[in-house]
Amino acid sequence: MTVHHAKQKHDFEPKIIAFVCTWCTYAGADLAGTSRMQYPTNVRVVKFPCTGRIDPVFILKAFQQGADGVLVSGCHPGDCHYMAGNFHARRRFAAFRKLLEFIGVDLQRLQFSWVSAAEGGKWVEVVTELTEQVRAMGPMQEFKALALEEQWSGRLDTPELQEAYQAI
Ligand code: FES
Repeated sequence: MTVHHAKQKHDFEPKIIAFVCTWCTYAGADLAGTSRMQYPTNVRVVKFPCTGRIDPVFILKAFQQGADGVLVSGCHPGDCHYMAGNFHARRRFAAFRKLLEFIGVDLQRLQFSWVSAAEGGKWVEVVTELTEQVRAMGPMQEFKALALEEQWSGRLDTPELQEAYQAI
């Protein structure tokens, strides 16, 4: 590792996006705040009615827009306010992780957790752990590499390929 690279890593402050459900995890994060618990300020929280509403495309977009890590968190199994939203989310994200791995995203950058409205302390733990983990990994590069690859393969576009795309 060069001195320059080591310095870059040392100075690096990860950008983390947290997609959370409003009923449990958002309330838990709020509890951590009102209880004046200390945790890294690297996390930008985006709330949804339920984790079942969090489209995997939001995660891809977050990485594409420069997030270094993503957290998805909602009610514990059995506590979802829409009955089974979190079960649907869990199934969807299990499949989605495989896709992310396939396209070259290090899965340590993406974390799923259950945090209830009463678990301010757990919110602090989850956020701190993910921030430290991503900080140690350095800036997210994988998805940028993928974007370049897309540009490159776009140049290889042929009339046959275009015709095939249009037929979809
Ligand atoms: Fe929290 Fe569904 S309402 S996960």
